[in-house]
Amino acid sequence: MRLIKFPKNPAHSIRAVLALAGTSLLAGCGAFNLDGPQSTFNPAGPVARAQLDLFLLTCWVTLAIFVVVGAVLAYAMLKFRARTADDEHAEPPPQGHGNPMVEMSLIGASVLALVIIAIPTLKNIWYTYDVPEAEKGDAYEITATGYQWFFKFEYPKEIAQTLDPTTGKPANAGPLSTANELVIPAGRPVHINLRSVDVIHSFWIPKLAGKVDMIPNRANFLWVEADHPGYFWGQCAEFCGESHAVMRFRVIALGPREFNDWLNAQLEPARNVAVPSVTSGEGGKPKAQFASFRTFRHNEGGYTDRFSVAPLDAWRAKQMPEKDEDPVLIARGKALFQSKTCAGCHTIRGHGAMGITGPELTHVGARTTIAGGLLENNADELHRWIHNPGDVKPGNKMWVNGYLVNNIKLTSEDEASLVAYLQSLK
Ligand code: CUA
Repeated sequence: MRLIKFPKNPAHSIRAVLALAGTSLLAGCGAFNLDGPQSTFNPAGPVARAQLDLFLLTCWVTLAIFVVVGAVLAYAMLKFRARTADDEHAEPPPQGHGNPMVEMSLIGASVLALVIIAIPTLKNIWYTYDVPEAEKGDAYEITATGYQWFFKFEYPKEIAQTLDPTTGKPANAGPLSTANELVIPAGRPVHINLRSVDVIHSFWIPKLAGKVDMIPNRANFLWVEADHPGYFWGQCAEFCGESHAVMRFRVIALGPREFNDWLNAQLEPARNVAVPSVTSGEGGKPKAQFASFRTFRHNEGGYTDRFSVAPLDAWRAKQMPEKDEDPVLIARGKALFQSKTCAGCHTIRGHGAMGITGPELTHVGARTTIAGGLLENNADELHRWIHNPGDVKPGNKMWVNGYLVNNIKLTSEDEASLVAYLQSLK
């Protein structure tokens, strides 16, 4: 006996084969991989664990119902099937009006199943709502704001430093603000205020907690806690425009001492790299020409193996200055950042850049990712981003009608200089 009857029309056969192939492709696409970076089946904190436990409980209850109902159905179908030609034309058996015992027990069983699911659901709604009362005193507070298409993170209790433009002396710059990478203390509850400046976004860190919407003009919040230091992926989980799918972020959880060191480094104004004296011959020329930037395909992913294998180590390495820094190129990039009006949209504390439209960049060189967590932060990917941001993240505000916003034109040396400068901002 043939199991599958192939259609006679060859076009139909091709379509059937394609459909089968597509289905198997989708099934292979992570359906059985429960340990991907955005898998909720491998939680790393109490909130995500509570959510997973509830999900599994619901699965088990529904599975039990499926098995019981399926077994009764299969039994009835086999036992009362038509065996002979007479059976097929037999008179229907006398009709009853139900059996009160059976009906009462079915109602009882349904209520029981719902109660088994409802009690832990309600418990979890309260638990995941906010930091438990007993731990409130220890909770750390952060504000996350959604933009089309990146996340801003503010630390309301940490006051950052800048340089007074007139006197050059250290000055207060308000609460610490950063973008795309949320650094939190591990083993400590973190209360995250959720805001949006434009449309509705949704804040989701699959292994830690989520999802809660970021709604314009409405104060939402959630809480997370990472059991151990680690590197986690985050994702906007509400359709918010063309580049919603690439609106990502990262969460870096650090032990108390490392978190403190990071905080202290972040509060400092942007780093300066001393330019060697011009009088000594070659001093005033860039060492590298950066002619070797490669070209990229549209929507091509951008992670090196080293980063993929050990992202937290890659993050730690990013905190140190790059080995092949070129002070002349960096100084050139710093001047270009001002003259090409980049400073009108981005903040770099202490370097005279105070724009707030785009992500904060004071310590952008110390982040592992750029472009809303989409690309690894290295010279190649950074070049790719500033060369054609519209290719990476369609519809973003830095790319207007095929040009950089404000009609900024950059030569390849300009691009190399800006890349060197941004990379130096540790
Ligand atoms: Cu922001 Cu989707």
